[in-house]
Amino acid sequence: MSPRHFLTLKDLSSDELKQLLSRAIELKKMLREGTLYEPMKNKVLAMIFEKSSTRTRVSFEAGMAQFGGHALFLSPRDTQLGRGEPVEDSARVISSMVDAVMIRTFDHAMVETFAANSRVPVINALTDDYHPCQLLADMQTYLEHRGSIEGKRVVWVGDGNNMCHSYMNAADLLGFHLVVACPRGYEPNEQILAENQHCVTVTNNVQEAVQDADLVVTDVFASMGQEDEQEQRMRDFDGFQVNQELMALAKADALFMHCLPAHRGEEVTTEVIDHPDSVVWDEAENRLHAQKALLEFLICN
Ligand code: CP
Ligand code: NVA
Repeated sequence: MSPRHFLTLKDLSSDELKQLLSRAIELKKMLREGTLYEPMKNKVLAMIFEKSSTRTRVSFEAGMAQFGGHALFLSPRDTQLGRGEPVEDSARVISSMVDAVMIRTFDHAMVETFAANSRVPVINALTDDYHPCQLLADMQTYLEHRGSIEGKRVVWVGDGNNMCHSYMNAADLLGFHLVVACPRGYEPNEQILAENQHCVTVTNNVQEAVQDADLVVTDVFASMGQEDEQEQRMRDFDGFQVNQELMALAKADALFMHCLPAHRGEEVTTEVIDHPDSVVWDEAENRLHAQKALLEFLICN
């Protein structure tokens, strides 16, 4: 039987996603109470990182340790993957020795190819197209602060990037309306938009978009791999900064989220990040709890 993978949020059904979020909240409570829970004794997670990371690496590694298992950090600098060993061959070899594989890379097709040749679950820990693990944490955070997100107005401000695409998938699975406010030329991928058309609106008017928002979310203007475009993007994203004036247009109790790392003073001001309505630190911490729920779902079921 082929294993379950988590390459996009839509690898889960709506019910599975909701159950996983409740489980994440439960696991968080258990950890805080000091309950020892080690369902992954002798289990190993391989972590392939072809891009930098703080939160993703720390959360997966700490999560496996807390579960009594082990995580293996693999960088292209010192594996044969970085010297051109085919993804298919690497997948066969690595998946023959571990219980799950987590991958952060550029091309989404790489994680698909890896998964197609893997005998254990593969987790997408960010590609150029999606960042589903972050959405588990963001949706857990909203649930903890405001309850169900169903029927809410969520506004994505900025680039129609990997995070934005995963928000589009979340809107479909959890039943909220997503408004994407981006500069012309930075709209989300057309195909992913077509898949989620019923719950997503795209606009270039950020002020209108933010009106009555329950949640405002943004991300860096230039993602990893787009460093050369930084200056051009700074010009193109003029007017798309999330600042206090923009947040004032949202509902009075609107939350602010950012997957981090943030470029303070570019896509978001320090005042907004450090404001009581900002839940960015909970989002970051919840990477740990949400991914532990995911690991348990994929490895122990
Ligand atoms: N949000 C996130 O994925 O952070 P890292 O790049 O630090 O892993
Ligand atoms: N969109 C960002 C997210 C970083 C966690 C990037 O891909 O670099």
